[in-house]
Amino acid sequence: MDKNIVVAIDGYSSCGKSTLAKALAKKLHFVYVDSGAMYRAVTLYFLRNNIDITNEKQVEEALKAIHLNFHSRDYQTHITLNDEEVSEEIRQMPVSEKVSDISTIKMVRKEMVKQQQRMGVSKNIVMDGRDIGTTVFPHAEVKIFMTADPKIRAVRRFKELEAKGETITLEEIFDNLAHRDYQDTTRKESPLVRAKDAIVLDNTTISKQQQLEFVLERVQPFLKTATSNHKYS
Ligand code: DC
Repeated sequence: MDKNIVVAIDGYSSCGKSTLAKALAKKLHFVYVDSGAMYRAVTLYFLRNNIDITNEKQVEEALKAIHLNFHSRDYQTHITLNDEEVSEEIRQMPVSEKVSDISTIKMVRKEMVKQQQRMGVSKNIVMDGRDIGTTVFPHAEVKIFMTADPKIRAVRRFKELEAKGETITLEEIFDNLAHRDYQDTTRKESPLVRAKDAIVLDNTTISKQQQLEFVLERVQPFLKTATSNHKYS
């Protein structure tokens, strides 16, 4: 039987994972899922509803009340939280500051992983995040682990937010990234680690096109046996 292809892209915050994942999905006509957007939307709900993260019952009830949906338009992630489009709001600093804390909660991770695994059933998919190659899809055909110089990452993020009109300093961004990296790599539940079989991609000095080619080369051998939701052209 033909098998669907899963490409797992993990790595540190603001390494360009989603840029690469989107470009790859577009090129291969795969489904793209930004798993970070899911943790961000959950965080937004927790913030808005003042959920006490030390109260298991509250967390459990909150998770039951959260319904997330992805809508892909032109390979841009549009995510709804209980039918409200929140794609912009989840990128803003209040959410960025809290998301790593929320992502450490076991119950939250369990629910997100379950939903993510469902999305990968019988579809060719590119998913980016922190635990995709280790926990969500440990048998993914291609696993990439992305990294880049922390200063370069902060500058890239700064430019992105500046273009959106956010007033934030480079130092604040640098600190936020360092904080998230620390939380993500040291948390108890599925921390960010490189899967043994993941290929490291350091994009400090290479172009987006070079990154895309690097991954395409790794996916190519699997395309011959894949199910039909791709047209590689
Ligand atoms: O990819 P991102 O920066 O939008 O992710 C936001 C946060 O969500 C990140 O700091 C850690 C968490 N996250 C996670 O714990 N597991 C994932 N698979 C994706 C994101």
